[in-house]
Amino acid sequence: MDQKIDQIKKEIKCFHIKTYNDLETFRIKFLGKKRGILTILFKELKKISIHKRKIYGKIINELKKEVQKKIFYYKSKNDNEKILKYDPTLPGKSIEIGSIHPLSMIKNRIIDIFLKIGFSYVDGPEIEDDWHNFTALNIPIFHPSRDMQDTFFLCQSPDILLRTHTSSIQIRYMKKHRPPFRVLSIGKVYRNETISSRSNFMFHQAEGFYIDKKVSFSDLKQTIHYLITSLFGKEKIRFRPSYFPFTEPSAEVDIYCNREWLEIMGCGMIDPEVLKNVDIDPEIYSGFAFGVGIERLALMIYQMKDIRIYFDNDIRFLRQFKNEF
Ligand code: DAH
Repeated sequence: MDQKIDQIKKEIKCFHIKTYNDLETFRIKFLGKKRGILTILFKELKKISIHKRKIYGKIINELKKEVQKKIFYYKSKNDNEKILKYDPTLPGKSIEIGSIHPLSMIKNRIIDIFLKIGFSYVDGPEIEDDWHNFTALNIPIFHPSRDMQDTFFLCQSPDILLRTHTSSIQIRYMKKHRPPFRVLSIGKVYRNETISSRSNFMFHQAEGFYIDKKVSFSDLKQTIHYLITSLFGKEKIRFRPSYFPFTEPSAEVDIYCNREWLEIMGCGMIDPEVLKNVDIDPEIYSGFAFGVGIERLALMIYQMKDIRIYFDNDIRFLRQFKNEF
């Protein structure tokens, strides 16, 4: 044993450390959790008598301290050298200046388009309660249409959630204001969806609604035409009958792009039940509403195929967009 210890002592002293890798090899050789020389010696102590164990235990502990001292010495030396290498005359790291995100450009553009025809812009909370996100919009608990939007719930409470759509803004606004009004809102929405080129767990929606006496489906059609032609110039669109619990009748709007029809938004006449839920008399007032995905629009505007690229935050990608709007 004594001979062995002398040999280890020599090895610790003579081990040549120059690089960070050497330092790691040194540490592992002596203190490695499985095969470190000292680790094995500590294990072997269990096999000898208590008397000898005390003596050798002390000696091996001393060796361990030697190893740790050497590691500490080279680590601090390395850090000091790094400081010494600091040269204040070298050019500093330049701070990258960002640009307006393409999704924000489209958002601002849509706001502009609607402000021109008398809409006001409002914001709403991303953390919602069940009533604003579902129930008041005519989506009661256990209604199968809740499955259309896979929801993230918060605080283990089934009542608090991340809004799955911006339609909750309709309820918030209509509760507080009396018609007539025209409102636009744009913001993030969340759904528990697998990330792919076309979907993400978070995306942006624009929500618009207009309530007055005698608002009709033709007002809705005209407004959507105005939005699409303002965004794309002349474009072919079609209204396809659809279903949403909060509108009746409901439609989906498709746009003709690269020789195919692409679905871009949902819309319809606000269901009388929804108006009743916010104390607006459906016998006097009627209204339309629509919801559109901003990322979808962006893919078409910029002729791209994958929405994930908007969230990579790669400044080289983001810089390619000019704020043309
Ligand atoms: N909230 C719907 C969704 O996220 C989109 C939508 C459809 C909004 C019809 C509307 C509407 O305001 O009238 O799928």
